[in-house]
Amino acid sequence: MSRDHTLERRAALDHPRWSAAFENDGVLLGLSSIYWREAWKYGMRAWRYCQHDCGHAIAALCYAAAMFGWQTRLLASASDELVSALLGLDREADLGDAEPEAPDALLWVGLGTSRPKLEDMREELRDATWSGRANRLSAEHMRWPDIDSIHRATRKLATPEPAAHRPAPLPLPLGPVLDPTFATIARQRRSAVDFDGQTHIDDESFFAMLDALMVRANTPPWNALATPPQVHAALMVHRVSGLDPGLYLFLREPSAFADFRSSLRQEWLWLKKGPEHLPLYLLLPHDLRAIGKTICCHQDIAADSCFALGMLAHVELAREEPWRYRHLFWECGMLGHVLYLEAEAAGVRATGIGCYFDDEMHGLLGIDDDRWQSLYHFTVGGPIDDVRLVTLPPYAFQP
Ligand SMILES: Cc1cc2nc3c(=O)[nH]c(=O)nc-3n(C[C@H](O)[C@H](O)[C@H](O)COP(=O)(O)O)c2cc1C
Repeated sequence: MSRDHTLERRAALDHPRWSAAFENDGVLLGLSSIYWREAWKYGMRAWRYCQHDCGHAIAALCYAAAMFGWQTRLLASASDELVSALLGLDREADLGDAEPEAPDALLWVGLGTSRPKLEDMREELRDATWSGRANRLSAEHMRWPDIDSIHRATRKLATPEPAAHRPAPLPLPLGPVLDPTFATIARQRRSAVDFDGQTHIDDESFFAMLDALMVRANTPPWNALATPPQVHAALMVHRVSGLDPGLYLFLREPSAFADFRSSLRQEWLWLKKGPEHLPLYLLLPHDLRAIGKTICCHQDIAADSCFALGMLAHVELAREEPWRYRHLFWECGMLGHVLYLEAEAAGVRATGIGCYFDDEMHGLLGIDDDRWQSLYHFTVGGPIDDVRLVTLPPYAFQP
């Protein structure tokens, strides 16, 4: 239970075959979503937010595990049906009339390179002694048929485990997050509810944040993914000392350059900025505060910050295999989580922006096909606390 920071045992097993399914020491972690937890408030957008949250959770796990020296790997081959079975989400008797729970991701956290034998685990779980029943969250529900449709359309069957992506070596050391202050930073992380419209960050801090979005081998949170980066950032820079305000594109994989060059507005400048190894390009120097706010559902937080961004994902990938659409949202959530933590480490604060007009963003960039789509927005700046809100210490409810 997250509120009490406790574990609840769902299945008791004592057969040696269960232990044999884990050849090396490690922990198999599963993530799932109850769409209704978001849909009661956000309606149809709930499905997307659950995917983003899954990405945030994956990144949070990767960082936490790395603090103990453990690697985290997404077990991307598993089918939804297998994930459901392993997590006991398909146990109708335990679910009763509670809201259904959708299987998301399986993560293997440990030291070794071998993976747990998932099918063996499923077999063993059939004979386990299960306990616990799901709570029903609401007496009444509003139906969102589009959530059911996208859930069905992106259902995942078993697929081959992707060959590990080998990122090119990068010269800069790790960003500031993974040092002894990590626990403090992770616990103090909150979303900014408002920005002061004045704070500037220096360009070095800005470049360090972008650097943390680059994939490095065995480095959290990107160690979880075996696939090369599919999500890049279109940045609206408002207040970064040493950089012109304007529209920038940050490519997390330099090889995406040609594709973007042909997909985006032909007039863009494409002026390389920042350290050599960061594929950061100025497209247009301009004050983008007004358009940034409009794009983000008229939210001030997109204009009063130091910078805001949209995450451009290679959606074309999902055409043949629709389940990949979910993974693209997860990758976006992971980028968001890196920015949340890096912003705290730099003495500023971030906020995820799930409410934005994607067509407006595509219009600004000059995207007129659907190969690249903006799947999540973010903003980073000098926060203003809302004095009406009380912040309790982390784990205040821990018994
Ligand atoms: C996927 C996602 C989308 C969000 N969208 C918005 C948004 O559009 N506007 C906003 O002010 N906050 C947004 N937030 C911030 C949430 O409101 C905030 O994370 C939540 O209230 C929990 O607070 P915390 O981040 O301080 O723990 C978003 C957060 C996430 C993870």
